[in-house]
Amino acid sequence: MSHTATTDTAAIESAVEFECDAIVESRDVVADDLLVLTLRHPDGLPLPEWAPGAHIDMDLTPEITRQYSLCGSPADRFAYRVGVLNAPDGRGGSRFVHENASRGSTMHVRGPRNHFPLVPSPRYVFIAGGVGITPILPMIAEANEAGSDWTLAYGGRSASSMGFTDELTAYGDRITLLPGDDISAMSAALDERLGTVRPDTLVYACGPEGLLTAVEARCAAWPAGALHVERFSPKVIDGAVDSEFEVELARTGITITVPADRSIFDTAQDNGVSVLGSCHEGICGTCETVVLSGEVDHRDSILNDEERASNETMMICVSRWKSGHLSIDL
Ligand code: FES
Repeated sequence: MSHTATTDTAAIESAVEFECDAIVESRDVVADDLLVLTLRHPDGLPLPEWAPGAHIDMDLTPEITRQYSLCGSPADRFAYRVGVLNAPDGRGGSRFVHENASRGSTMHVRGPRNHFPLVPSPRYVFIAGGVGITPILPMIAEANEAGSDWTLAYGGRSASSMGFTDELTAYGDRITLLPGDDISAMSAALDERLGTVRPDTLVYACGPEGLLTAVEARCAAWPAGALHVERFSPKVIDGAVDSEFEVELARTGITITVPADRSIFDTAQDNGVSVLGSCHEGICGTCETVVLSGEVDHRDSILNDEERASNETMMICVSRWKSGHLSIDL
């Protein structure tokens, strides 16, 4: 995955990332519990450029920040479109948006950031479940425009829960809609698309954990870097044991001791070091930090196996020390 690692320059850029109180120009319920917002700059200015797979942060309250994938057209420099699912078992962020994002209201927006970029390829298999369709929408538009061969399998709880189907039907039989809780249909679609390794093909998947786990299992034999997934909730890491460790913050010039029940992020802040963060769950990439030495116990849901093995960066909100002298560019 050509995930863009945070270099020194990028870290500096992220420290001054774009933010504004964006105006909610429109709000449309496009499926059960799925609200689509169009956001504009308060002064009518162009918004920062983005590419398919990017997301923005929305600071909903002083305590709640959520990430939403951009699902409009990157060519429209004056609008950001996001889809917000009001999940009944959610943690309150999306419900806040549904209740408060009225037309003409403002939403504090930061970013955009992209940890799920579309790598050029002659062929793609896109897999989406539920609101996981949102980052995939601009991807298939770009793949289509580039003349790549591609298919999309898109599942949802029911037909009425699946947004954007009108837009998708324009692509004809490249799209397979799989409404309903019957997982056998999606399972068969995954077997058909992923059962045979295709070296010239990239797989992009976004959706609930069960779907992504099923995709990962079927892609186990695919070449490294072929599979790209984006999670909306942290990946479950079995058997992780936390212990105290030391990490050198090379730019600050101090070494801190991270207790077993604290993160590098929190401990750095405790020591007066300014750190950028958002999700604190290893899913947004805001806290990505360059690793200068030492081996990392990666606990995030962003980096792929190659990126983990390269040990170039880490998400300091969740990842920890594994071995050697851990030194990071902070
Ligand atoms: S703050 Fe989101 S990945 Fe660390």
